[in-house]
Amino acid sequence: MQSNDNAGAAAGQWSSRFAFLMAAIGSSVGLGNIWKFPYMIGTGGGSAFMLVYLICVLAVGLPILIAELTLGRMGRQGPIETLVDLGRRYSGRATWGLVGCVGVLAAVLILSFYSVVAGWSLAYIPKLLTGQMSGLSGAETGKAFNDFLADPLALTFWHALFMLLTIIPVARGIQSGIEKAVVWMMPLLFSLLVVLCIYAGIEGDFTAGMVYLFKPDFGAVTWDVVLAATGQAFFSLSIGLGTMLAYGAYLPGGVSIPRTSVVIVFAAILTAVLAGAAIFPIVFANGLNPSEGPGLVFVTLTVAFGAMPGGAIFGTVFFVLLAIAALTSSVSLLEPIVAAFAGRVRLSRSALAWIGGIVAWVLGFLTLFSFNIWSDVHPLGGTRTWFDWIDFLTSNILLPLGGVMLALFAGWVVTRQDSVAAVGFESPFFYSLWRILVRVVAPIGVVAAVVSNFF
Ligand code: TRP
Repeated sequence: MQSNDNAGAAAGQWSSRFAFLMAAIGSSVGLGNIWKFPYMIGTGGGSAFMLVYLICVLAVGLPILIAELTLGRMGRQGPIETLVDLGRRYSGRATWGLVGCVGVLAAVLILSFYSVVAGWSLAYIPKLLTGQMSGLSGAETGKAFNDFLADPLALTFWHALFMLLTIIPVARGIQSGIEKAVVWMMPLLFSLLVVLCIYAGIEGDFTAGMVYLFKPDFGAVTWDVVLAATGQAFFSLSIGLGTMLAYGAYLPGGVSIPRTSVVIVFAAILTAVLAGAAIFPIVFANGLNPSEGPGLVFVTLTVAFGAMPGGAIFGTVFFVLLAIAALTSSVSLLEPIVAAFAGRVRLSRSALAWIGGIVAWVLGFLTLFSFNIWSDVHPLGGTRTWFDWIDFLTSNILLPLGGVMLALFAGWVVTRQDSVAAVGFESPFFYSLWRILVRVVAPIGVVAAVVSNFF
């Protein structure tokens, strides 16, 4: 295979601030906000989860996002190399690179299950387009979904197709591939979510949905909820494994990282809340179970599409957009994997994208079979399937701890002088606030949430 100098950071810069913004929002807004968040609210007890999630995103997620983008722009290389270099520069230790290595591992694991679930949304495109889901009751769409999950062959096909769609743009490089896709689809996705919310407001049990999402229920806040919400905050913002390190490396100097980060966080929260507001009124109006689990979006929204006028069209468009939202996130999982190896091994960017994608695809079978032939297999005992374990390990352990390491690095290791310049806050007050959050609040909060789980 030929070697290619054009890999890694040399792959260039985002062509504009808008393009970067769309790519970063594209990375964070994905299955995490539209598929995972609603079902985690459902299994995590409704508004309690929502409350803790919002606190985590603002007090922990936002400062770590700023830290990660800043480190990326300071290092301007692949995630591992950036940490090795900056580690040497500020502490004389290259071992910081290990954080990048763990991040690559987490990226491969997340990509493996992400592609399986994104495959479901690809599969739902023809299902809605052909009208076979029209007019079904909640119970019937639930059965249709379970029948679909019980067919490993079909799942394999869609999983493969989605992984292929992920590999191609990453193989082609950041600008020609990723940018072009994201700039038009993000606005479209938001619009459609708004339409769905309006529909849910008219046809669904809007009050029950809103009460479920927003009525404060502090009593339901347990350590389990805290950990799950912390993990979800990291997952939904794409932080903790090096995605934003890799994206920050392509960031032009003039872009304000704090401002951009606020926009990214706002977009992630907005999508998650819109998805919840579209789904739960339909859940309650149709007697569906809010703690249905990973099938929630597929079952509930299909009921809505089946009942609304023009639902086949709306439904098709929705699942197309969901698949694209997933795609702009999955490329951001493959990108740091490629960037981590580019330049260190004599393989082209394209070869690395194929290898990374295929490894994740093969690992994906652990998840794929968790929903059918291995649904009763519980590695390490307990009730968790392979999918549950991979999800738990990545979201609840690797991302939070990776994020804490990045926060500590940006807060304690990088000198104050350099970090002031690199982060680029306009106001000294916000700089100090950020610094306290990454030095003390985020590390203590996150470690407490993770450790609580072991007792
Ligand atoms: N944030 C994406 C979502 O919500 C998933 C994702 C993409 C991700 N890149 C990441 C999660 C990096 C953690 C780290 O769907």
